[in-house]
Amino acid sequence: MNAGLYEARHSFVWTHGADMLPLLAPTPGERILDLGCGPGQLTARIAEAGAHVVGIDSSPDMIGQARQNYPSLEFKLADATQFEFAEPLDAVFSNAVLHWIPEADAVVRNIAAALKPGGRFVAEFGGKRNVQALLAAARTVLQARGLEYRNPWYFPSVAEYATVLERHGFEVRAAWHFDRPTPLDEGDDAMDDWIRTFGGVVLATAPKDEWPHIVRAMIDLLRPELFRNGRWQMDYVRLRVNAELRRDLPG
Ligand code: BEZ
Repeated sequence: MNAGLYEARHSFVWTHGADMLPLLAPTPGERILDLGCGPGQLTARIAEAGAHVVGIDSSPDMIGQARQNYPSLEFKLADATQFEFAEPLDAVFSNAVLHWIPEADAVVRNIAAALKPGGRFVAEFGGKRNVQALLAAARTVLQARGLEYRNPWYFPSVAEYATVLERHGFEVRAAWHFDRPTPLDEGDDAMDDWIRTFGGVVLATAPKDEWPHIVRAMIDLLRPELFRNGRWQMDYVRLRVNAELRRDLPG
């Protein structure tokens, strides 16, 4: 994913993510991880509360952009399934990232290993039915061309994700599954831009030279449902969780 394009045209990602900061409620001196920090905007908001925050991301481009945006903060290139911290953390925060990692057990196991007993995990990402119209359009267009369709993302229900959390010692204090129709930047090209920024993984089974035709056909299918009053809107559905690590505490 191109960090410059992401930052220039998809600021709604961290604008919406800021809604979760009251749930995280960072306090001065706490050690907090921002998992999948992107260009660092929410990491900076957590730092403003006086917490010692570290942002990690698996994209060198995003980490480069985050360091440029916030030179006084700590950012590291690391994978959500493999990061390690010498000192246990008070909280792990994650916005709009976990749907990219189908290995949910590996991620949650790692988060649990990094937290103190009683540590908090506050996250939001795509929930069941997320970008359903987009996936339906991709399936129709790919299959019409004899190409394989698969959903590359992880969009669990509350029950599915709570089961993963409980398996790794978390108590789910609250979970929400809600629709968040999200307007994209103005302009007829905004859906094309979204598909090019985020949707390449859906088109991975198609030869590159077919992509322009496939994207155009998808946009034609999506227009009646997602282009409203001159503006594209993504059919986002969010899963938000607030969990606490209870593994080492008496029942
Ligand atoms: C999302 O935020 O829901 C999302 C972003 C990119 C790809 C798929 C889903």
